Amino acid sequence: MSGVRSVYIKTYGCQMNVYDSDRMADALAPEGYRPAAAPEDADVVILNTCHIREKASEKVYSELGRLRVLKEQAARDGRQMTIGVAGCVAQAEGREIVARAPTVDLVVGPQTYHRLPDLVARARRGETAIDADFPTEDKFARLPAPDRRQTIARGVTAFLTVQEGCDKFCSFCVVPYTRGSETSRPVAAIVAEAERLAEAGVREVTLLGQNVNAYHGAGPDGRDCGLGALLFRLAEIPGLDRLRYTTSHPRDMDDALIAAHRDLGALMPYLHLPVQAGSDRLLAAMNRRHTAADYLRLVDRIRTARPDIALSGDFIVGFPGETEDDFAATLALVAEVGYAAAYSFKYSARPGTPAADLAGQVPEAAKSERLARLQALLADQQRAFNAGTVGLTVPVLLEKAGRRAGQLVGRSPWLQTVHVDAPLEAVGSIVAVTVTGMGTNTLAGRLAGGAADQRLGGAA
Ligand code: 5AD
Ligand code: SF4
Repeated sequence: MSGVRSVYIKTYGCQMNVYDSDRMADALAPEGYRPAAAPEDADVVILNTCHIREKASEKVYSELGRLRVLKEQAARDGRQMTIGVAGCVAQAEGREIVARAPTVDLVVGPQTYHRLPDLVARARRGETAIDADFPTEDKFARLPAPDRRQTIARGVTAFLTVQEGCDKFCSFCVVPYTRGSETSRPVAAIVAEAERLAEAGVREVTLLGQNVNAYHGAGPDGRDCGLGALLFRLAEIPGLDRLRYTTSHPRDMDDALIAAHRDLGALMPYLHLPVQAGSDRLLAAMNRRHTAADYLRLVDRIRTARPDIALSGDFIVGFPGETEDDFAATLALVAEVGYAAAYSFKYSARPGTPAADLAGQVPEAAKSERLARLQALLADQQRAFNAGTVGLTVPVLLEKAGRRAGQLVGRSPWLQTVHVDAPLEAVGSIVAVTVTGMGTNTLAGRLAGGAADQRLGGAA
């Protein structure tokens, strides 16, 4: 211990970064670092970055410009502020970050943040500390467990990374390069972490992985265990009433996982299953290794297992060579599936990925125009899905206080945000809520007092 200091971690990008930011805070806690409310108050500021699209990467450099001013102010006040860059930009750019932004004292990739205490100590002694290795040791095994108070403060839902990296090599994507090849944590380590969460009052855990349904960790018997079997094991943990997982690749949706959606009450009826595009020609150029028809057949099988499942997806418009006909195929696929939620992006050429060098880059104006059309369709579908839940009484996990006094915010099984008047002590309960109305992205409801419909359509 070297006295109380504070750390401010700003997270960009995906849920895996949210999880990693908490683990970085846990790694620094035994060194006396407490969370700071704002960067200007902090002794150490870390940006946990995202490299998936150009815009995400560039945000980091503009934030570093603002932090440089804070660091200079701190120095004038006689305080030392240490600035670190973590995450996927750190992995991809390493030392180059310091060349471009000399205010940075420390660079740490997603695989080595268990070494953060040492890196921070070196940086505070005036060294530039850089570590973007892919080490052989298991960082999870070397990280301290969060203390119980910290877990409670983080809320009644939690992320849990079970798998990292990706071997799919979609031709547009940097993840296989920044996060490395697929690795899965052993079942025992995941169960132990989930039990700790449940004991601290967490009711819902979302299992995370860049390609989470490719999970194949070592089971207690030493044999490989898939995601379906892992979910069944986690559902046995008392107090863990809700399980979710993200993000999945269509090729890795196996029978055991689909069976889990049919048989496991704790597994919430929501599936994020990116397809990216609807044209087979583009899907091949993207190296997705499935056709539109494969995806639609898969959706059918999943819906047979769990008819009320809410599907969400990721889409890229303006991939190199995309024609109006290709784009029409994406719209047709969306129309056929009917999504409850979705994320859609303009293609962004990422240095080092195969697609960046393809001919036929689509002009920005065409990308914007197609994105607007796709998003209009997806927004209609989301409204239709939400409208389908108005009037139902559904189980809602109350997560936190709302903006208005007396109001709480929770989630339906289908991941919809629900606002409901309820006492603060009810946070952490799963209550029956009658959905009375809907806003753009949220539902309004009132406590029903009785039992909830566990499935859309009312079937128990
Ligand atoms: N350009 C645009 N979107 C991308 N994604 C991944 N790489 C790119 C890129 N180069 C999107 C995909 C993926 C999501 C996480 O980000 O849709 O599923
Ligand atoms: Fe990237 Fe996902 Fe494709 Fe892996 S499966 S390369 S993470 S888009």
